Amino acid sequence: MAFPQSFIDELIARNPIEDVVGQYVSLKRSGSNLFGLCPFHGEKTASFSVAPDKGIYYCFGCHKGGGAVNFMMEVEGLSYPDAVRALAKRAGMEVPEDEQYQSRYRHQERLWALMKEAGRFFHEQLFAPVGAECLSYVQKRGLTKSTVTRFGIGFAPNSWNSLVDAMRKKGYTDQELRDADLVGEKNGRIYDRFRNRLMFPIFDVRGNVIGFGGRVLDDSKPKYLNSNETLIFNKRKNLFGMNFAKKTKEPYIILVEGNIDVVALHQYGFDNAVASLGTSLTEEQVTLLSRYTEQVVLTYDTDEAGQRAAQRAIPMLEKAGLKVKVLQMKDAKDPDEFLHKFGADRFKLLLQDSSDRVEYQLNAIRQKYDLKVDAEKISFVQEAAGLICTLDSSVKREVYGSRVAEAAGISMDAMKLEVNKAFKRRTAMEKKKQEKIDLAPVRALQPKERSIRYDNIKSAIAEEGVIAQILREPALLEQVGKITEKDFSVSLFGKVFSQLRARHMQGLDVSIAVLEELTPEEVSHITGVAQRHQGTVNQDAFTDCVNRILSEGQSTRVSTDDDLRALQEKLKAKKGTNL
Ligand code: GTP
Ligand code: MN
Repeated sequence: MAFPQSFIDELIARNPIEDVVGQYVSLKRSGSNLFGLCPFHGEKTASFSVAPDKGIYYCFGCHKGGGAVNFMMEVEGLSYPDAVRALAKRAGMEVPEDEQYQSRYRHQERLWALMKEAGRFFHEQLFAPVGAECLSYVQKRGLTKSTVTRFGIGFAPNSWNSLVDAMRKKGYTDQELRDADLVGEKNGRIYDRFRNRLMFPIFDVRGNVIGFGGRVLDDSKPKYLNSNETLIFNKRKNLFGMNFAKKTKEPYIILVEGNIDVVALHQYGFDNAVASLGTSLTEEQVTLLSRYTEQVVLTYDTDEAGQRAAQRAIPMLEKAGLKVKVLQMKDAKDPDEFLHKFGADRFKLLLQDSSDRVEYQLNAIRQKYDLKVDAEKISFVQEAAGLICTLDSSVKREVYGSRVAEAAGISMDAMKLEVNKAFKRRTAMEKKKQEKIDLAPVRALQPKERSIRYDNIKSAIAEEGVIAQILREPALLEQVGKITEKDFSVSLFGKVFSQLRARHMQGLDVSIAVLEELTPEEVSHITGVAQRHQGTVNQDAFTDCVNRILSEGQSTRVSTDDDLRALQEKLKAKKGTNL
């Protein structure tokens, strides 16, 4: 299934890692390495490193790492073969296509083309006689012609076969229509899935149509019908409007709930609005945001569901290093309504006034209590102190603390005491948590990448050593004795070991950049291992690791055999009593 090794080697040689990464990250040299701001998580100090001599990148903050192919996979969200194709294109190389890859790639290209055609079809229908009612709905919602064109908004006619017929005429097969999730099926016959709906094409960051959101023209339910996931549509990884918002000059992105809100905001000149795709915000969407901005202004609907969603989004965004502000509207349920009622200037004022997330959260706490009742006042102060004690600057604690004190009518000294108490409670709790972790060292040593598990820690540590040292000194591959892929307790290390050994025996380069068939998580893990084991190669340490792997392998086998025997005995005993 793979590309020929010689092709990958040339591809890597012709795409120096610093050039590939340099297209996305501005890098500064420091010693033999280059540093920059990590494109995979938001950060202010550069913990993202590129090692040109090894052909790899590694982030000390989020632990992502790998070679040039892996970088393209991560940064553009591409599959392995597509990342290879992108690099080949960059270096002006022709790709020797394997049949299986080729067919999948072609299929993907066909689906992109089909979705684009479908989008065009819906758009045309909006201005055809059949779309008259929808067009007047669009006008009623205050959308201009140029907005409709820019977003490719359209109309799915109230018919069972208008899209199907049009796409068949263009040469698309029924299977392709199914794979794009544009049709339903009954008794072996396909029919238009979207009927009598206002259609919003969903674009990926690069501007391909990957799905549709279809809104009803009245109050009937369900309000939206959205494309399900397909080969080209991953809801978790995309944001509605990101293809436009990524080009904004504003230093922040406005995150809203509805498609209509995004469209209205762009129409009113806010070219930095995006929405998640009808689901609650995902980690992947947060990562996507942090790739393009440092600050997010949450502008969720004013209803309870919207406010709950905002509370949930705040820590997710902050964890990714994004600065979070919250915009609050009065007398309108969402940005769309607000803009039509009060105009862009008023919205700009709201943006300027949008509060720091702490202020917003304090307000939310405040709303829960009736401060005229003493018992509630106490609860308010305690809950607010719990929030304030988490702030990392004393100035912030002072400012917000005094606000709470004022609202509750207590002295600042009393407030400070309350915050200190809350802080102690919190540290005690954290200490307990940490103790739990310390007591479970096995868990602490587990890789951060969730898909990789160490079942035998002793052996896994030795395996890390072997892989790391081989990567630095491939000649060690001649001294691995009778160790084989099967002796590794962590299958990933075994896989990497045998790939590297095969390459070394053929006289090929041995490095992380040439590893194949690994997931991005796996490549990151290997890169992290290589980074952690720095220093000179030590012959004895290497031999120790090899021996440890061999002996651990044996002891695990013995112990599993023992366990098995014990289990069999138990079962026998049980059977005996049952009989
Ligand atoms: P208006 O009500 O016209 O302002 O539309 P809106 O786009 O703002 O919708 P709303 O605020 O009700 O919902 C926000 C987003 O949630 C929508 O843009 C959709 O992506 C999603 N959504 C809303 N209703 C449904 C539904 O019934 N089904 C699904 N799958 N998604 C929905
Ligand atoms: Mn809405």
